[in-house]
Amino acid sequence: MIVALLNQKGGVGKTTLALHLAGQWARQGQRVTLIDADPQGSALDWSEQRAREGLPRLFSVIGLARDTLHREAPELARAADHVVIDGPPRVAGLMRSALLAADLVLIPAQPSPFDGWASGETLKLIDEARIFRPQLGARFVLNRCDARTIIARETAEMLAGHEPQLLAATIGQRVAFADAARTGRLVSDLDSNSPAAREIAALAAEVGRIAR
Ligand SMILES: Nc1ncnc2c1ncn2[C@@H]1O[C@H](COP(=O)(O)OP(=O)(O)OP(=O)(O)O)[C@@H](O)[C@H]1O
Ligand SMILES: [Mg+2]
Repeated sequence: MIVALLNQKGGVGKTTLALHLAGQWARQGQRVTLIDADPQGSALDWSEQRAREGLPRLFSVIGLARDTLHREAPELARAADHVVIDGPPRVAGLMRSALLAADLVLIPAQPSPFDGWASGETLKLIDEARIFRPQLGARFVLNRCDARTIIARETAEMLAGHEPQLLAATIGQRVAFADAARTGRLVSDLDSNSPAAREIAALAAEVGRIAR
């Protein structure tokens, strides 16, 4: 399966969730390739940092920030159980290419009282891609979410019954994600039993069920 983390809004957690989904599946013994489709190369940076820290490689990270991504992805997918695409903010051409490659799009969104949880442009591009690929799946995933806050509840209510649907699994606002990122680690490297690690496990399980 090819899963793409996309949202033209910047800083919503595309890279964080892409790395952690890839890591979770790799830990479970699956062959995973992560495509860094962002010219900023954040996932590649993470992977280099991980190598410098002498930590074991869990999955390969390939830089493919090109509009021809969709032509190269199927070949990578044949050699892997899962391909995870970390999408770029803004760049529409790359987004389109990622949408042509993906089986499932996950749209990380942060709880917000405004209409700020997704870029309307992102949803438009998904609709456009579905003209060619009606089977393309899409889900919102709430990130940096403190389920107890009113804003989180209101955002979840607003997205309920909305298309794309909201995943049941949500990811909290947790320093472990920022700490892990800086040192080429995943939250499960820091503490495999932490709330952050358990949230990621639940997310990967839910996404895996959609894929089957
Ligand atoms: N659940 C979380 N809890 C705490 N910090 C988080 C969480 N998710 C992401 N962050 C932090 O927020 C910042 C932005 O996250 P990330 O880089 O994953 O977003 P992005 O959507 O990939 O951004 P860009 O659009 O620039 O590619 C990073 O510093 C990351 O460590
Ligand atoms: Mg990113």
